[in-house]
Amino acid sequence: MVKRVPFIAGNWKMNKLTGEAQAFAREFKALTREFAGVDIAICAPFTCLTVLRDELQGGPILLGAQNMFYEQSGAYTGEISPAMILDAGCAAVIIGHSERREIIGETDETVARKTRLALEAGLRPIVCVGETLAVREEKRAVPHVRAQVEKALAGLGPDDLSRVTVAYEPIWAIGTGRTATAADAQEICALVRGTIAGLAGAAAAEKTRVLYGGSVKADNIAELLGTGDIDGALVGGASLNAADFAELIRRALVAV
Ligand code: 13P
Repeated sequence: MVKRVPFIAGNWKMNKLTGEAQAFAREFKALTREFAGVDIAICAPFTCLTVLRDELQGGPILLGAQNMFYEQSGAYTGEISPAMILDAGCAAVIIGHSERREIIGETDETVARKTRLALEAGLRPIVCVGETLAVREEKRAVPHVRAQVEKALAGLGPDDLSRVTVAYEPIWAIGTGRTATAADAQEICALVRGTIAGLAGAAAAEKTRVLYGGSVKADNIAELLGTGDIDGALVGGASLNAADFAELIRRALVAV
C-alpha cells in the first residue's frame, strides 16, 4: 500500500545516557542487518549523537537530532546550530515536536524558520504537526493541521519538499497508549498530502513522506501502513528498546 519508501524514525526524547545509547546501537545494528527497503532513523538527545555516529558510521541507519536553533551561529547561549548537528553525524532533525510547541513554546514561525535552515544545511527535517484533544473534540483538527502544514512549508519548492518529512502526531495519542484509529490517522495524513499539493503541486506531494506518530507499536504498525497516505511512523516509547523497535520495523516491512 505504501507508495514511497517507508520511513520509521525513533524519537528517544529525553532518554538514554551515552553508554545506553552505545549498547542500543550495537544491538539494534545486529537486529536490523538484513532489513531492506525501509529507511530507519534514530533521533537521539544531543549528548548521545557522536557516540551513535561512531557506532552507526557506514551503515544504513540514519541519525537525527530532536531540535536545532533557527540561526547559524552566534550569541544564543544553550542553543545548537544545524552545522553542529551535522558535524555530530546527523542527517535528519525533528522540527516542531508537540512537546516543544506545548512545553517550550515553539511557534509556527520558529518551526518555519528552522525547517528552512535545516534544508539549507542539507539536513532532512521531520516537521511535526498535530492537534490537542480539545481541538479534536471541537472538530477543528482538519483546519488546525492544515494551517500548521501551510505555515511550516509555505514557499518551499518541490526539490526542498522531496527532502521534507511531515509527521502527524495527534497530541492526545502521544505516550497515552491511545492510538488514533488507522482511519483517523489516514484522514489527516491525506489532508497533509493534499495541503502540500496545494502549496507545491501534486507531484511534489506524491514524493513527500507523511508519518503517523502517537503510541505506535509492533502491534499497530501494519494497520497504519495499510491505509494509503501513511508512509511510516515516528515512534517514541517503542523505540527505546532495540528488540522492540527492530520487531516494529520487521512488522512494518511485512505490511508494505
Ligand atoms: P509515543 O510513541 O511514546 O506515543 O511518542 C510519540 C512521539 O511523540 C514521537 O515523536
